[in-house]
Amino acid sequence: MAEKEIELKRGLRDVYFESTESSLVIGDVGRLIYRGYEIHDLAEHASFEEVMYLMLVKRLPTRTELDEFDGTLRSNRAVPQEVLEIIERVKDAHPMDALRTAISALAASDPEVDDISHEATLRKGLRITAQTPTIVAAHHRIRSGNAAISPDTSLSHAANFLYMLLGERPDEETARLMDKDLIVHLDHGSNASSFAARVTASTLADVHGAVVTGIGTLKGPLHGGAAEGVMKMALEIGEVDNVDAYLAGKHERRERIMGFGHAVYRAEDPRARHLREGSRRLAEKMGDPKWFQILSRVEEYMRPYAERGICVNVDFWAGSVYYLLGIPEDLFISIFAVARVPGYVAQVLEQQDKNMLIRPQMRYDGPIDLEFVPIDQRG
Ligand code: CMC
Repeated sequence: MAEKEIELKRGLRDVYFESTESSLVIGDVGRLIYRGYEIHDLAEHASFEEVMYLMLVKRLPTRTELDEFDGTLRSNRAVPQEVLEIIERVKDAHPMDALRTAISALAASDPEVDDISHEATLRKGLRITAQTPTIVAAHHRIRSGNAAISPDTSLSHAANFLYMLLGERPDEETARLMDKDLIVHLDHGSNASSFAARVTASTLADVHGAVVTGIGTLKGPLHGGAAEGVMKMALEIGEVDNVDAYLAGKHERRERIMGFGHAVYRAEDPRARHLREGSRRLAEKMGDPKWFQILSRVEEYMRPYAERGICVNVDFWAGSVYYLLGIPEDLFISIFAVARVPGYVAQVLEQQDKNMLIRPQMRYDGPIDLEFVPIDQRG
């Protein structure tokens, strides 16, 4: 059969499928903008709650608006008992699998699950956002043989997350570092998991389904899983003197270095600098400079790769921050998820507000006109 010439855009690179007002990634110069604001201004001067408001309501809040928004989040942090029981049953699963399962289960008790109006989606999205840190922390506590810790409504989103996860209320500097980490991970243009969440929303499925899709997609090592890979690499390297030989070996075997390269950035990922500084200060405070020194040497060794557009990305420094905070490596992606869930909600709202079913084409390269042979006659 004569096929018309089809130009494939594998991986949908350089394909613009929709317009957005949520975030802009300018890859060649390494800029990231959330609804008009430079990521550096937000990371330095705003709280995660304030940035969530910006992304979900599309403008910065007044003090009163922020207090009300924050109050809604704080009062929705608790997770239903039946969801805690499900977490207990899947306690041996990877934290991202447990999170995906628990968010799916939240839909069962959400009174508005089928209402996909803008207002209901925002309310549900805030509930999921408030409950995500509780789920991640509860799963980790339960799998470690401890009881889940109830949320502390006097703490910020970031501080309460660390408290529920690690069992101690963090000091102000540590809470602020986690806050910044969540801000820089919140949204990132048409990243794979937000795109996946949009595909789900475009079928007019509900926001729980879209967030579950996003979380399933975020888990992969080419997306959310790189921070875990970076810290594994640092642990394998072990000492700063081993860095060069270790990386030379990787290079020879043509293996990728986790925490470098990006589908869009050809310059340094603008999110990296906030976590590099955080990692340096944390290492100093903990009196444990080794990992910062190893990673700094890796960054230096990789500098010539910048000429090919392979530069440090956000995950490179995130991993060392989490490690120094005492968070196990298999939880690193879940922290990314805590930050990205409100980003999914913002993109789902945008998708729903001007929806069009996302349904691209694939070129068929298989055979046609094969003769069907009944099963008993096949050799
Ligand atoms: N180390 C060594 N070489 C690399 C790396 C790396 N980390 N990343 C890309 N390259 C090389 C790659 O081997 C290829 O070389 P060649 O043309 O000789 O085959 C070339 O650069 C282009 O690679 P690509 O996979 O076509 O480029 P991409 O734009 O699709 O890659 C990426 C994006 C993130 C999948 C890739 O850079 C990678 O695998 N990085 C490591 C994983 C990582 O750190 N991921 C976190 C991304 S940041 C978090 C987020 O926003 O999701």
